Amino acid sequence: MLKNIVSAKQFDKATIEHILETADQVRSKNYDPNALSGKIMATLFYEPSTRTRLSFESSMLRLGGGVISTESAAEFSSAAKGETLEDTIRVVNAFSDVIVLRHFSAGASEIAQRYSRVPIVNAGDGNGEHPTQALLDLYTIFSKFSKRDITIAMVGDLLNGRTIHSLSVFLALYPKIKLVYVSPEALAIPKTLRSHLKSKGIKFKETLDLNVALKTADVIYQTRIQKERFKNETDYVKFKGLYIIDKNSLKQLKKTSIIMHPLPRINEITTDVDKDPRAVYFQQVQNGLYIRMSVLLYLFDKTSKKTR
Ligand code: NCD
Repeated sequence: MLKNIVSAKQFDKATIEHILETADQVRSKNYDPNALSGKIMATLFYEPSTRTRLSFESSMLRLGGGVISTESAAEFSSAAKGETLEDTIRVVNAFSDVIVLRHFSAGASEIAQRYSRVPIVNAGDGNGEHPTQALLDLYTIFSKFSKRDITIAMVGDLLNGRTIHSLSVFLALYPKIKLVYVSPEALAIPKTLRSHLKSKGIKFKETLDLNVALKTADVIYQTRIQKERFKNETDYVKFKGLYIIDKNSLKQLKKTSIIMHPLPRINEITTDVDKDPRAVYFQQVQNGLYIRMSVLLYLFDKTSKKTR
């Protein structure tokens, strides 16, 4: 049993499958709507969010629990007065049974868990990780492909995209899956992920060419260039237009492939792609609810014992 969800590296295959199976049960409405009655979740968000925060809050409410929230903690919580994250976590412990934390600095959740009696869920820590997004991504992939011998191409800002980091760690547990990383050299996967994959004996391909990926991959996982991580606006602008999936790109894609994106998108997938049945990014959002309900049930030890 994991007490906190801070990094994808904490998970083994059995825990992942258990959470995905619980998400399946939730999807088919097979859950107790009062399972978490009397429990309170605090969402402490120091960076912007739409999907992650609202899906966690909706999940808690659907399971009968309550929610307290600071949507821009950097401005409106005592952090603005200079309070440390450690102190804030200790304080929020008095009011809640689980804390969902999004923070601008990588490693923030790891620090938070040291000062917390209640579980900490990492909802994105700077350019570090975003494990629950990766769980919903995995759930989306495995709902489409029951076989594990597929090729997954991750595209865009692989250096700063925290969803990429967590998803790659999960995928490394499934060695039949082939990984292709498409990015400019300056935005290639970080050293820490590179050495993690190496330590697991995972081989992967790196290319600058999106077209190669479009023709061969079963999953195209497109990402946003992470503007907020760039010191220099010119660099951001240079990379922003580099990989765009539009109606023409669809012609190269296999009929059975899917296009994913954690959202929000800026210009990297044009809106005329949305109607194509291979575009599944809005299904990912829906799956996010099932996964976060499943994650909360798991943390409070309320999942069905059968699937463990
Ligand atoms: C992602 C994030 O915050 O890392 N969004 C999300 O949670 N769905 C991706 C992004 O912001 O580009």
